[in-house]
Amino acid sequence: MKKYQLFLCLLGLNVSIASAQDKHIDKRVDSLLRLMSLKEKIGQLNQYSGRELTGPVSNRKDELLKDIKAGMVGSMLNVKGVKDTRAIQAVALQSRLKIPLLFSLDVVHGYKTVFPVPLAEAASWNMDAIRQSAHIAAKEAAASGIHWTFAPMVDIARDPRWGRVMEGAGEDPYLGSAIARARILGFQGEKLGGTDALMACVKHFAAYGAAFAGRDYNPVDMSEQMLHEVYLPPFKAAADAGVATFMNSFNTLNGIPATASTYLQRDILKKDWNYKGFVVSDWGSVREMIPWGFAQNLADASEFAITAGSDMDMESGAYIGELENLVKSGKVKPALIDDAVKRILYKKFELGLFDDPYKFSDFKREELVMKDPEHARIARAVATQSIVLLKNEKNLLPLNAGIKKIALIGPLVKAKADLASTWTVYADTANMTNVYDGLQQKLGNKVELSYAKGCELNDTVSTGFNLAVKTAEAADVVLMVLGEAGDMTGEAKSRANIDLPGRQEALFNAVKATGKKVIVVLMAGRPLVFNAIAEKADAIVYAFWLGAEAGNALADVLSGAENPSGKLPLTFPRSLGQIPLFYNHANTGRPVTKPGDIRYKSAYIDAPNSPLYAFGYGLSYTSFEYSALNIAQEVIKKGESLKLSFKSGGDQKRGKSEAEF
Ligand code: GLC
Repeated sequence: MKKYQLFLCLLGLNVSIASAQDKHIDKRVDSLLRLMSLKEKIGQLNQYSGRELTGPVSNRKDELLKDIKAGMVGSMLNVKGVKDTRAIQAVALQSRLKIPLLFSLDVVHGYKTVFPVPLAEAASWNMDAIRQSAHIAAKEAAASGIHWTFAPMVDIARDPRWGRVMEGAGEDPYLGSAIARARILGFQGEKLGGTDALMACVKHFAAYGAAFAGRDYNPVDMSEQMLHEVYLPPFKAAADAGVATFMNSFNTLNGIPATASTYLQRDILKKDWNYKGFVVSDWGSVREMIPWGFAQNLADASEFAITAGSDMDMESGAYIGELENLVKSGKVKPALIDDAVKRILYKKFELGLFDDPYKFSDFKREELVMKDPEHARIARAVATQSIVLLKNEKNLLPLNAGIKKIALIGPLVKAKADLASTWTVYADTANMTNVYDGLQQKLGNKVELSYAKGCELNDTVSTGFNLAVKTAEAADVVLMVLGEAGDMTGEAKSRANIDLPGRQEALFNAVKATGKKVIVVLMAGRPLVFNAIAEKADAIVYAFWLGAEAGNALADVLSGAENPSGKLPLTFPRSLGQIPLFYNHANTGRPVTKPGDIRYKSAYIDAPNSPLYAFGYGLSYTSFEYSALNIAQEVIKKGESLKLSFKSGGDQKRGKSEAEF
């Protein structure tokens, strides 16, 4: 038999085994469903947060345990560790039908080993690295009793005022789709059920990143074309990659809360895309239909949500409180409940939880997996590839052997917890390597490091400037580490200004005035506006938030041990007023074709149209790397609306767009 015939027959065999397994699970789901009361079915649609279960005793703790024991809870979030997951699973198995709980957690960029924030990893443009990062996060979390992570977040974001831009993959649907797939394969492995894998949950469905004015939880309004061309592709890529679950979003889409959107959840997801997994609401989003003014009460909200295809209710207490009456009153058809329950039970069978409810809660494996030294090594490699070199006048970087004294100045030089930023559920911040320690370990025996903080992150005074200036004057070169606080991005962290907080830019100007060469490392979960630094710094490195190995990764790149390869996953505006600013925007009937010629053209009379740094921009020590931009140019060439050309290689001058957007 020829090779390809063998391949086809194996493929066919594989497919038929899979469908046989599916049919087998379907049978087990159906036979269990027949045994369940309406109350028990609704219990499976109910998800509670278990923070109290592992925290100090509270009256909620008793209520939670009572509901779990009565089979009124299908899943818990925010319970972690073998000890607690085993204890709570044991309570669930005292229920009449002994249906095991799903334990879920926001394992977004690492569990114990903290990886770079997703936006930083997106700057690596390296799908293997991103997949490895997710796989290690899954291995560690699954060894701690977790079955399900609320990740990847794939919301396209074109507005850096929005704090959650840090959790995604930037502005481009193509890159966002590729990364969605890489993360899902990393979290879930080839097939669900392994104890080194988690169910993934693609979120937030949909268009959450387009909130008006970059303000979190705000309405979203857009055309069908924009929704389908820009915001849905990463979700479709996730569905095609076999993501186990979806999470709907807090926003309204054209007036309808996503949790109540039949168009999104049934028409597009479950019908057009033939999606078989289940949808969980975001935290309390069923109940939030009331303040949206969309539902008069919790009963209406519950009816809208279950009818629209939102299968599981996270922390509203709506389904468990209202659905039984809605079914009995005829407002909600029992078939809707059955469909949601079957989708959830299917995943519990697929994970193997009915065969062994404790299979993910193994003390030995938990201890072993957390100690694996390979995880830190990979975290360092991923962080290194997530660093973007934006400017490098006269090849100041990599630091050359002639340099004997480096002044480290800035509020983030010794920062540790900030390096983890937000959405780290288990961050062992004591073990983070900051910039000072990383450089000390890498260069300490060859170079003297001096240090001055200069100012606090969000300072109003400049009392530390004098010492910083003196420290700079006494060194051969200055390395400043500036930026936001790690908790200035993430959920509910929108900023009306995206410049450097406090007095940091003034500190830079004071240090630069010494005449010394100044390298600036910027850390943030979003693009910042930093024009003075962009003009006057001799070298600029954008590090976003690099996680546990930040200091080592930066030392690798700054010393030249590693060649920077990161490219921006989203556009950096020169000013707030340009937002939203993104590379793949539509043409205009009056493009600026010659720099400066803006009469009756689409331009600002008081600011340039072009970005400070473009999507896909990133330097290396050897040559320009514009692969991302080449994609952009290919895409744009059709429209002839944007010609970006950059001075290449050699002097590594920062590129200037020769035409405005
Ligand atoms: C939050 C977030 C969501 C997260 C969920 C559980 O409000 O919007 O991304 O997964 O609640 O923590």
